[in-house]
Amino acid sequence: MATVTASSPKGAETALKSPRGRQPQSATLVIFGAGGDLTKRLVAPALYHLVQARKLPDRFAIIGVDYSDQTTEQWSQSLTKMIQTLTPASRIDVSAWSWLTDRMHYMRADFTQAETFTHLEKLLATQREQNNIANVLFYLAVGERFFGPIVEQLGHAGLTEQSGGAWRRVIVEKPFGHDLSSAKALNAQILKVLSEDQIYRIDHFLGKETVQNILVLRFANGIFEPLWNRDHVDHVQITAAETVGVEGRGRFYEQIGALRDMVPNHLFQLLAMIGMEPPISFDADAVRTKKTELLQAIHLISPENAIRGQYGSGVVLDQKVQGYRQEPNVAPDSGTETYVALKLGIDCWRWAGVPFYLRTGKRLSARTTEIAVQFRQAPYALFRDTPVARLPANILTLRLQPDEGLSVSFSAKRPGTEIEIDGVAMDFSYRDYFEPVATVGYETLIYDCLIGDATLFQRADTVEVAWRAVQGLIDSWARDPPTDFPNYAAGSAGPAAADRLLARDGRAWLPISAHHSHTAIRPDIAGSIAAKVTP
Ligand code: BG6
Repeated sequence: MATVTASSPKGAETALKSPRGRQPQSATLVIFGAGGDLTKRLVAPALYHLVQARKLPDRFAIIGVDYSDQTTEQWSQSLTKMIQTLTPASRIDVSAWSWLTDRMHYMRADFTQAETFTHLEKLLATQREQNNIANVLFYLAVGERFFGPIVEQLGHAGLTEQSGGAWRRVIVEKPFGHDLSSAKALNAQILKVLSEDQIYRIDHFLGKETVQNILVLRFANGIFEPLWNRDHVDHVQITAAETVGVEGRGRFYEQIGALRDMVPNHLFQLLAMIGMEPPISFDADAVRTKKTELLQAIHLISPENAIRGQYGSGVVLDQKVQGYRQEPNVAPDSGTETYVALKLGIDCWRWAGVPFYLRTGKRLSARTTEIAVQFRQAPYALFRDTPVARLPANILTLRLQPDEGLSVSFSAKRPGTEIEIDGVAMDFSYRDYFEPVATVGYETLIYDCLIGDATLFQRADTVEVAWRAVQGLIDSWARDPPTDFPNYAAGSAGPAAADRLLARDGRAWLPISAHHSHTAIRPDIAGSIAAKVTP
């Protein structure tokens, strides 16, 4: 991970810097899929932000590789157009952007042909000889089917060999496989060519500032860890709610669905961060080993503990939207899920008996990604005359996006002569303490890869363990197609069955909302929460 800074509210500085923050060594970045959306929307803007932050080496070159026939000039113009749409023209830092475009070279090529790689080797040799740049980072911003073949071709052409102190690394995008066996096959294929420490498997959730903060919160503070276990935690809710639909990706999404798209990768990364044991250091393998162990401890998920849903038409953020089955390239009778809710058990000393409820869905009422740790209720003997259900539990909510921050809810006495209890919250918002940093979420990932820090990347065993946890459910859902789709309206909180999943355990989901901290006052009990207590 990159530099971590803690300070008091804007201005007053008590900075604590991690020993990292190194300047990367000179390198050539080769982007396969240079004309694709990912390169335009995320990779190029992230590089631009890194230039602004002076985090790229002076000797840096970019080679874009793609099928379409265009010149370097046309390629860099297409990236410039995208930067202009993302950043108001008046705010574009022209010198930073031209620093980058001056270093770009476009190569039209077919990723599957051997001559592409011979040609690439010539370009890399030029960088080596003329600019003294010998390190190479290959970025596979391409469809999943190309990952294996490109790595094999790189291997045949000798482009992955590390010699004379120069490194060769490969970034592999998501999705890493579409089930356990394809993930294993892909690992086996690329590990024939590369060693594990050359492979950087991306899960872009790990690039989010607030996700990285989970480890700092847990392990750089003394107050949370003693409570972080089955003795004190009642349950944990992890929510990744989106308002968007499939955004024109119907063809891809039909094959994937919400479970594969979000659970073994993004949600499990959050789960691992929140549930893992403390690592012995922040060394990449120490952290990844603990995360993998946590994922290994997930009970196999049975269909009784899983709910799937698909959105019908509805109203999202005041806009009427169509149902999933009406989206382009989606079958009119599609059985693909756009929502999933799971109850997970974790088989380890720390979490035995503590349910982890996960949910994610498209076209929900608000966009929010958060983790809520709900603590056990206080012993209530002191408040003997208050029905216990009305005594609120403490909830620690980590808001990962969009309103990044953290809040703790607790009970307080209402001012007055009577003892009345109310639910209140202490709230920390990133924007109150830190200057906003321009980010698309890929800056840290690219930077870490350039300095050789794999902490935020998935290891082969982590990916496989995650797929293993959901494979039984994938198989059982495939055998038993849904009969009730669509089962939630766009703009709602998801299918009613997801509420029943928690109601069965006497619990309820926290409301899906982008801009609030959860106090213990749930809307369903708000009227009665300030219960009068007779001392
Ligand atoms: C992607 C999924 O990996 O993550 C998308 O394929 C999803 O379906 C996206 O919308 C969510 O990421 P973020 O950063 O917008 O929360």
